Amino acid sequence: MRNLSVALALGAAFIVGCPGHAADVKEKAEVCKGCHGDNAISQMENIPSLAGQLDQYIQWQLVYFRAGSRKNEQMQPIVEDLGNEDIRNLGAYFAAMQPFKGTPDDNPELSAKGKQAAAGRRCASCHGDNFAGTKAVARIAGQREDYLVKALHDYKSGARVGGGQAAMADVAYPLSDEEIEALAHYLAHL
Ligand code: HEC
Ligand code: HEC
Repeated sequence: MRNLSVALALGAAFIVGCPGHAADVKEKAEVCKGCHGDNAISQMENIPSLAGQLDQYIQWQLVYFRAGSRKNEQMQPIVEDLGNEDIRNLGAYFAAMQPFKGTPDDNPELSAKGKQAAAGRRCASCHGDNFAGTKAVARIAGQREDYLVKALHDYKSGARVGGGQAAMADVAYPLSDEEIEALAHYLAHL
């Protein structure tokens, strides 16, 4: 009964509060862009681009940061101030932005190795044929190369656990440093 009235109240707030809510999410997103980049395309080392990242994926990661199951010193103070509605709004906001595009490939040989590793490890079976992701599985095409390397090492070392059945831990564990380097280079230049 209580849940129903909360749901109704939220629904009503959404309908009547639309312009206010849009301004609010834009304001909140300004803080994010300080690190994640003006168009949510990151210019900073080890900080991922968010533009065109999947709505569900973004929301889950914010929930993991807030719950402390994903740890990062820079994100920690940010998520403390976010409520569930903020998280929903921010997910939709960044997902709707023009996705990041890979930079021109300066090392096609390394990309070829990465492509081969991605096929051998069946990365596309979860991340999609174009690595554009689906639902809670991240878009990884065009992501920053340094961040991809960091993310794969974090899964491999167990520093990052991830959701679901910890799919990425099993995937990353057997990857060699050379494979990680090649995969990150390939994906970043798609
Ligand atoms: C002080 C810099 C900083 C600010 C401000 C910041 N972030 Fe982050 N964010 C980071 C870093 C660094 C990471 C990478 C964490 C890691 O390596 O695990 C990250 C990761 C993320 C991720 C995970 C992305 C992925 O590909 O897994 C999401 C989602 C995210 N931030 C959303 C936000 C949102 C939304 C805001 C604003 C409310 C925000 N961030 C503000 C630094 C920042
Ligand atoms: C069984 C399904 C599955 C397979 C196979 C898989 N992934 Fe993932 N991947 C996921 C899921 C689910 C997530 C989100 C996990 C989380 O919440 O941290 C993810 C997240 C990632 C991330 C983090 C993205 C970010 O923005 O932080 C990277 C990088 C990644 N995968 C790369 C790969 C690569 C490279 C391969 C092949 C070697 C691969 N994945 C194979 C399911 C998979």
